[in-house]
Amino acid sequence: MKAAVIHQYGDSSQLEVSDIAVPAIKADEVLVENMATSINPIDYKARQGLLQGMFQWQFPVVLGWDIAGRIIAVGDDVHDFHVGDAIFARPDIDPIGKNGTYAEYTAVKADKLARKPDNISFEAAAAVPLAGLTALQILRQLQVKAGQKVLIQAGAGGVGIYAIQLAKKLGAYVATTASQSNRDFVTSLGADRVIDYHQGTIAEVLSDYDAVFDMVGDIDNGIAILKPGGHFVTISATLTEAQKQTANKTVSEGWLETNGQDLAILADAITDGTLEIVVDSVYPLTTDGIRAAHERSETHHARGKIVVKVKVTELEGE
Ligand SMILES: NC(=O)c1ccc[n+]([C@@H]2O[C@H](COP(=O)([O-])OP(=O)(O)OC[C@H]3O[C@@H](n4cnc5c(N)ncnc54)[C@H](OP(=O)(O)O)[C@@H]3O)[C@@H](O)[C@H]2O)c1
Repeated sequence: MKAAVIHQYGDSSQLEVSDIAVPAIKADEVLVENMATSINPIDYKARQGLLQGMFQWQFPVVLGWDIAGRIIAVGDDVHDFHVGDAIFARPDIDPIGKNGTYAEYTAVKADKLARKPDNISFEAAAAVPLAGLTALQILRQLQVKAGQKVLIQAGAGGVGIYAIQLAKKLGAYVATTASQSNRDFVTSLGADRVIDYHQGTIAEVLSDYDAVFDMVGDIDNGIAILKPGGHFVTISATLTEAQKQTANKTVSEGWLETNGQDLAILADAITDGTLEIVVDSVYPLTTDGIRAAHERSETHHARGKIVVKVKVTELEGE
């Protein structure tokens, strides 16, 4: 099958579309014919070799952790999903690095799957799992409730677009950071207050917040704007012991734990029209396409999600 692989860690020129074996499935897995995948910052961090402390991958490595496609085979222990089902998922990270989603076929554990909403294309669906699940789960970790004030950093990014909308659904007052060019965009997603982070720090303009969702590593300022009893979670930085033990505030790191139930919650919100998907750009699964997709992500200024179309004959909204 066609897959984008790397043979060593490095810059985007390491990505290359090659022919590799279709993965075999275990009893609790399904084989998905992948219509689309999407790019997350972890992809270029992994490509650069920054995850070597966590995984002992064997080259060639297939990157990618978002999938939207159709099931073409099911393992013996899989009963809730069937051949032909249209699904989306954030698969587990393969310990040896062979089973990423920049590929025509991916083996996925059935408990990571949810049915793709009928009202969106596979390309739009691929833009949801990793970023959407992270937004949902971190807002839960932050214990965001109706009437509370929450700051969502980087509101125009992949995680931020979902976090703003989900926090508004919870009834929170939402502040977010963005460049001036994204002010109207994040306001259209529901943000009540937009701070242009180029003009100064959040601590200069915000105070008494119940929750801060950090994805840019602005730790001390984020903690400083919390009211006593407030919650801070970062998904992009390592906290010091002193930061974790801040008096009267809950300060922690957050990690996505992929599962199909939470993805089904997002699917329901998409189906009922209360969660909008924003696609920054779409690239083909070619060597040039995947390299360009990574380079776009590495600008740190994607507006929404970067999608990679795997199957070029896909009909929109199929
Ligand atoms: N721990 C986990 O489980 C987990 C899960 C998902 C993501 N992450 C991490 O979370 C981070 C964000 O992911 P993402 O997918 O949302 O990234 P992304 O889509 O690449 O984010 C791009 C956005 O970041 C904004 N931005 C850049 N620098 C900023 C700054 N200094 N202050 C505020 N906004 C800034 C840009 O806004 P403007 O263009 O408006 O400037 C742009 O819209 C990444 O580091 C990623 O690895 C961690």
